[in-house]
Amino acid sequence: MTIADEISTRERRAELGQFFTADHVADFMASLLAPPPPTVRLLDAGAGVGALTQAFVSRCCENCGGVRAIDATLYEIDQEVLSALDTHLRECARRCSKAGISFHFTIHASDFIQDMSAQLGDGLFSAPPPVFDIALANPPYRKIHSGSAERRILRRIGVETSNLYTGFIAVIHRLLAPGGQLVGITPRSFCNGPYFRPFREDFLNQLALRRLHVFDSRQAAFRKDSVLQENIIFHAEKGVEQPREIIVSSSSGERNSEIHQQIFPFSEIVHPKDSERFIHIPSTARYAEAKTAIDSLPSRLDALGVTVSTGRVVDFRLKDALRKTPESGTVPLLYPCHFNGGTVHWPKLQARKPNAILDNDETRPWLVPSGIYLLTKRFTSKEERRRLVACLFDPDQVETEWVGFENHLNYFHAGGHGLERTLAIGLYAFLNSTVVDQYFRCFSGHTQVNATDLRTLAYPDRDTLQTMGREMKSLDLSQEKIDQLVTKHLHAHR
Ligand SMILES: C[S@@+](CC[C@H](N)C(=O)[O-])C[C@H]1O[C@@H](n2cnc3c(N)ncnc32)[C@H](O)[C@@H]1O
Repeated sequence: MTIADEISTRERRAELGQFFTADHVADFMASLLAPPPPTVRLLDAGAGVGALTQAFVSRCCENCGGVRAIDATLYEIDQEVLSALDTHLRECARRCSKAGISFHFTIHASDFIQDMSAQLGDGLFSAPPPVFDIALANPPYRKIHSGSAERRILRRIGVETSNLYTGFIAVIHRLLAPGGQLVGITPRSFCNGPYFRPFREDFLNQLALRRLHVFDSRQAAFRKDSVLQENIIFHAEKGVEQPREIIVSSSSGERNSEIHQQIFPFSEIVHPKDSERFIHIPSTARYAEAKTAIDSLPSRLDALGVTVSTGRVVDFRLKDALRKTPESGTVPLLYPCHFNGGTVHWPKLQARKPNAILDNDETRPWLVPSGIYLLTKRFTSKEERRRLVACLFDPDQVETEWVGFENHLNYFHAGGHGLERTLAIGLYAFLNSTVVDQYFRCFSGHTQVNATDLRTLAYPDRDTLQTMGREMKSLDLSQEKIDQLVTKHLHAHR
């Protein structure tokens, strides 16, 4: 294959959200199902080459007894994989026949969302939607923008979501019979992304979560594909109440890797009073410690008189006002590239980003008055040691009356103004501590830290933060020293 071919294949696969599940992961997914009924109506939407159906069939054939008939419905839009899919299903039929199981399959070479939405809508002329006992899904992952055809189609059946994978899951659970089961492997972003709130609401109202499984490695679950998202496997059941307890497990994702599992009260996974319906995913012992430490903290950000917001300068909207080099009539504009250890390094003339923004009537609404602000990066790279990276903007270092914070930053402020110094430094220590980092890593599968995540975090009270701030003699402390300081004060709370 030439490089050009490879790129075009890669692009096509990205467009289709095509990542095939490794056999051992597909088998693990099938193993999570509770015993199915004797006659199973199986759905495999976005079937690829059929790895999930094959895994299910293998399990049924090995577990003699139980299942007597499988009626499999598969949707796959990519013409190029249909022949491999067909071959694999014929192989399933042979295996079933040997095991005395009747196996019937139908491949729909069409768009699952479009077909099913038409049937689920109240169209008078469309066929009633099919019903399934079991659905296995590794749905395509791709953003769907608010004006896109997919969004419009999904909206018509009451599904509001910004990614194809959540669209698939929302349609799939609508097709399940009461008591029907769904095992899915998807990105973890739906668990706490702010845009997924309507999806979570719908999902948790319709399905009881039975099991969550996470991988320590991002790639091990997929055949040769470089998947950058962190994934989760879930097992859920339609139309029953959420359980009191749920099993959460983790493994490296490699073949034959050890599985660690723990039972958690469901109320720790989805807090009963949480209007965001976040799905917290605890998994490791270190997390349990971090969680206990953070959960025992008394304050919310608003009780501290502090607010966190996303940087207001969206650079492409204010292109004409941006300047690479500060000049008269401009004020500092800060990007993540200006983070320099605990403080900001500004201007950074060798950086690709602008350093300044004009201060005029058009830009003023996007600027903030100078003061002490705590800044955090919204996106950290996989290589970065911490998920949460905070630094201090100090007007003693960058003299200005106004300042712009770009949209890739979050900034902590007091009602639109700067923070009191010791409070800001205390928050700096707290947010840069390992305990908060661990809490975040388990709470959030992606490398993005949203203002909502920071708003819902529990914090030490104001006095403690200020004491920590006073005790931080320099912002340039080692991680170990920051941790010692924070741990000492958090322990005092227990
Ligand atoms: C993430 S892959 C998973 C494939 C397979 N289920 C597996 O686990 O290996 C998702 C599949 O959905 C297919 N697909 C994407 N959009 C689709 C749509 N609208 N309708 C049906 N299939 C679709 C892609 O071509 C791709 O093969």
